[in-house]
Amino acid sequence: MGTEENSLSSASISNDLGTRFIGQRVIYHPRLASTMEVAKREARLGAAEGTAIIAGEQTGGRGRMGRVWLSPQGNISLSIILYPDLAHLPSLIMLASLAMVHAIEAVSGLKAQISWPNDVLIGGKKVCGILVESNVQGGVVAYAVIGIGMNVNLRAADFPEISSTATSLSEGVGGEVSLVGMIRQLLVDIERLYLDLQAGGSVYQEWRDSLVTLGRKVMASSGSISYEGIAESVDKDGGLLLRRSDGSLIKVIAADVTLHD
Ligand code: BTN
Repeated sequence: MGTEENSLSSASISNDLGTRFIGQRVIYHPRLASTMEVAKREARLGAAEGTAIIAGEQTGGRGRMGRVWLSPQGNISLSIILYPDLAHLPSLIMLASLAMVHAIEAVSGLKAQISWPNDVLIGGKKVCGILVESNVQGGVVAYAVIGIGMNVNLRAADFPEISSTATSLSEGVGGEVSLVGMIRQLLVDIERLYLDLQAGGSVYQEWRDSLVTLGRKVMASSGSISYEGIAESVDKDGGLLLRRSDGSLIKVIAADVTLHD
């Protein structure tokens, strides 16, 4: 790819992408507070399914559980608008993290794994975070937005707040990675899995097999509440089943999980 095709723009992402709808419309902003807010506004205005909002950098990037998400230039900050059936909503988190694993492997050759529920890791360090937000009214999904933040050409050491837990694709491959190439691949992979889901397929089995978490001693924390136990299994909706030391089995739906073994 020449320099023109390699710099982020709506055209460099969507031209000849080969998808049916994901990424066929791209709204690109060099700088945004958060792609999530723009995506939700566009969805409320009836944007076409698959519309992607991409920022060169975010000044107010949001992570799961109300955390700040660092989004400097050189990383991917992307939100995709979908209108799934209600029954498919719980699968979107699995689908998105699995698509990231596929896209990372296709572009960089690196093997990625998933830390429950949807952190994507390389060599045990986080390279990609996913945030799914939706609006359901009267049993119908008004919209869902998949937000993806990927550390691509980031030097984790430059960011002390994440340097011990995060890495980037460029650190994994030892050289710069094409942002455009990575975004195009992940749009293709998301569409493939989403079409498969709509056709009655399931991402559950492969997502479960990609988890680093199962069989491990973990701490699951949500706000001020923490549970320790063995991550025994995950259910079809993505919930984590945790075996506690007293033998009880609890289901965790939303939490931060850290490995404790
Ligand atoms: C996490 O906490 O791991 C999820 C991080 C999700 C970050 C992405 S970057 C694009 C989109 N815009 C945001 O403000 N957040 C998501």
